[in-house]
Amino acid sequence: MRLMSALLITSLILSMLTALGAAPNGSEFERSSSMAVFDERILPIFRSSDPSSCVQCHLASVDLKDYILPSEEKTFVSLRDQGLIDLDAPEKSKILKLIQMGTQDPDEGARLIHEQMRRAEYEAFAAWIEACCNEPRLMALPCLEDHVNARPAKPDAVIRHARKDRVLDSFVRNVWSQRMRCFPCHAHHEIDETNPRHKNAIKKLGEFRIQYGEEMFERLNIFRETPEASMAYLISSSRNTPDDRLPLINLENPGQSLIVLKPTSKLPAKLEDGTHAAPSLVDPVSHMGGLKMHLNDASYKSFIAWIQDYARVVGDRYDSAAELPADNLYPSKQVLRVMDTPADWATGTAVPFFVHAWDADEQGWRKEAAAFTQGTVNPRHRVVGPLFLLAGKQSEASMHWDGENAKLPAGRYLVKAFVDAHHRLAADPTAYLDDTDFYGRVEVPDAQWRETFKLAESISGADFVRD
Ligand code: HEC
Ligand code: HEC
Repeated sequence: MRLMSALLITSLILSMLTALGAAPNGSEFERSSSMAVFDERILPIFRSSDPSSCVQCHLASVDLKDYILPSEEKTFVSLRDQGLIDLDAPEKSKILKLIQMGTQDPDEGARLIHEQMRRAEYEAFAAWIEACCNEPRLMALPCLEDHVNARPAKPDAVIRHARKDRVLDSFVRNVWSQRMRCFPCHAHHEIDETNPRHKNAIKKLGEFRIQYGEEMFERLNIFRETPEASMAYLISSSRNTPDDRLPLINLENPGQSLIVLKPTSKLPAKLEDGTHAAPSLVDPVSHMGGLKMHLNDASYKSFIAWIQDYARVVGDRYDSAAELPADNLYPSKQVLRVMDTPADWATGTAVPFFVHAWDADEQGWRKEAAAFTQGTVNPRHRVVGPLFLLAGKQSEASMHWDGENAKLPAGRYLVKAFVDAHHRLAADPTAYLDDTDFYGRVEVPDAQWRETFKLAESISGADFVRD
């Protein structure tokens, strides 16, 4: 019968269309299984106000939500067109690999904290992608009209920069590496009971313990057993700082962090009975440890650089790769000392130095500096600064970083001095001076770069060549 067969064909076509997900009438649309998974498992991730498991490593700039759109189709197309879904082998999809990153974290504690969230995300995405890849309807969808796929707003370079492990690595090089300047008062774990040279330090800490009491003694121990613990302490103690003191690290204004204000401040005033007034924890700060760091010396610069970078990372304030700091300083125990500084270097002036290696092949000085340091002119007309090696294309080969110290090989070097005569560092202590502040250069034909302040590589201010 004609009518029957026509009906049959129509219903056949309809059911085929439905199977392809292209039912002509939306209200009769049969929910596909992938869509059920999307609604039940992906959308809750999208709508959740909790951060995704990515925070285990990424302090800012990326969240799993950034890859989800309110529509299943759009989410699928967006992930597909970014290469995050593997249509042939759904279980190998890159988005699943990103979610699984957390399982490779060497930090076991962090791995465990985020495990539940990570597993829920993984299972949801794995089930949904698997279901999607069984649906030719989705696979065949054209790319999004405006080609605007869902992804984090920040570029990859910013996302990579905002990682916890990168921030920690930077902390190790810029802050942790300088802790012996605060020894033993703030680095109790560096005490070695078997080292006869630590006898006085042990005695001092014993006195502190009695004088300050257990709680304050613990607070003095700023540099904990590991860099991780020290960084965590600085961050957590600064989060809820009482009103009657400045925070150890000040995210709004890095220069107003106690960790730099204390060591650049003098002892509190002496009272009539010869004792000192109580040390101040607000502006103007005073420090029972006395002056242990100078404004604009190399450690001051590296401390401020780390605090500023950390503040910008957690504040999600970087937008482009161009804004990221080079963050390429590697501390050494090698020291540069300039004696008899030129008469026009006023006491207290900051003097940055760049050290360039001789390139025997090119028979010229390397354009890229191998090391940097900075110091301030002291009343004895000297500037002293520990070298920080600079990681870069040309210098990497000569940099021997062992996780604690870098070493500049002995050899022929050029030292260039810049003088902060225009107080540019007051506006931004992390700045590097450029040609407008160039003072002069000295060739050091056979620099030994021995370690410790005592054995500093000495040059004379009178030898600077100006042009
Ligand atoms: C165990 C730590 C860890 C976790 C967890 C983690 N990532 Fe990453 N992520 C990294 C590292 C390390 C890099 C830098 C890779 C590189 O430099 O090659 C990175 C880089 C990135 C980048 C920049 C592009 C690239 O490939 O370098 C993106 C985007 C990204 N991650 C997204 C995510 C998302 C989304 C999540 C959560 C689902 C996540 N990550 C979870 C460690 C992690
Ligand atoms: C000789 C011992 C000594 C040295 C070295 C020393 N300090 Fe101190 N510091 C103290 C004492 C004692 C206090 C507690 C009294 C006070 O607040 O001034 C203190 C307090 C501090 C505080 C406040 C801690 C808090 O939470 O209340 C900070 C921050 C600090 N010092 C930073 C440093 C840094 C950074 C260095 C090294 C560059 C350093 N100090 C070197 C003795 C020292």
